[in-house]
Amino acid sequence: MAEPTDLPSDGPPACLAAFGELARAVLPPDVWDYVDGGSGDEVTLAANRAALDRVAVVPRALRAVESPDLATRLLGHRYAMPVGVAPMAYQRLVHPDGERGMASAAAAAGVPYVASTLGSTPLEEVAATGAEVWFQLYWLRERALVRDLLARVRDAGCRVLVVTVDVPVLGRRLRDLRNAFRLPAEVGAVNLPHGRDDLAHAGTPGVSTVAPDAPFAPALGWDDLAWLRDQTDLPLVVKGVLDPRDAREAVRVGAAGVVVSNHGGRQLDGAPASVTMLPEVVDAVGDRCAVLLDSGIRSGADVLRALALGAAGVLVGRPLLWALAAGGGAGVEAALALLAAELRDALALAGCPDPAAARELRTVPIR
Ligand code: FNR
Ligand code: LAC
Repeated sequence: MAEPTDLPSDGPPACLAAFGELARAVLPPDVWDYVDGGSGDEVTLAANRAALDRVAVVPRALRAVESPDLATRLLGHRYAMPVGVAPMAYQRLVHPDGERGMASAAAAAGVPYVASTLGSTPLEEVAATGAEVWFQLYWLRERALVRDLLARVRDAGCRVLVVTVDVPVLGRRLRDLRNAFRLPAEVGAVNLPHGRDDLAHAGTPGVSTVAPDAPFAPALGWDDLAWLRDQTDLPLVVKGVLDPRDAREAVRVGAAGVVVSNHGGRQLDGAPASVTMLPEVVDAVGDRCAVLLDSGIRSGADVLRALALGAAGVLVGRPLLWALAAGGGAGVEAALALLAAELRDALALAGCPDPAAARELRTVPIR
């Protein structure tokens, strides 16, 4: 595990990428690679950035906007900005503050924290931070285990159930394979039943041991999601949708939201950038459910791009793990404050008083 570190005292990082440099300097190289890497040739990982960079947002002039109000309603709750912490496994890998630090920072920033099934801190301890917790479910092969988890999710007061559908098996993470990456003994999937850690990281030959396919149920279909929807009163969000036909299926089985995502380029290499598929998904289901975006969001300007293309909000992944690695919970708080400041500036520069106005902006391909 990485040693705890403090943020440099000569002023906070000026952009989220700077947290990446700090994280790279403190993390063991194999942990950095696990966080930073994608699957295969990392074509999709690179495409996420390239595609966002090609979205030009056309600003409006003289809209008399002094200080934009970032507050947003998402899935029935009000948040300080249209941004959430993406679910990410094993946060204690990068800093001892782990999930508790990340969730406390989300609480301080007024944004939702999406807790992974593969968290390295018990869900109840994460909820005790006071964060607005959304729970991300990896469907386990044993339905009884899914039921047990859902009962804990309800008792912990989680707001939303997010089911990730782009991991029928784990993508081939070449960096992890080359590094023979293993989780350290003190970091594991503690939300799975004791003594059943084998469910999460027993190792499948040829696949990263971080989350081999052992626990997951690849033979799932949309009818299983209908079952899941009937097991919970929480709004259901389907994460990992790229094809608008799947977004329609999600709505058909009762989803309240979808996350247009390619898992940060970690699953099907060669899949399109999430932002490339966003407009089609918004067209298909945007009037019937909340459409969120993740994969490659690195700044307030990127959040503005997503909003202008019709997203209700975004999830941010790696940059917040970088901030956790670099400065623990305080680092994440600084990163979220920076993102809020950037988004406020971007909205003001585009002539938008709030995120809803940004959804009326035009975009064109950058040339
Ligand atoms: C993830 N992601 C992820 N997704 C999920 O549904 N459950 C999980 O446990 C994890 N674990 C995980 C670990 C790490 C280290 C990373 C980087 C990512 C995917 C995550 O939720 C999100 O889709 C992407 O990270 C978004 O892309 P960016 O913001 O990292 O580019
Ligand atoms: C990952 C899995 C755990 O992306 O979601 O590493």
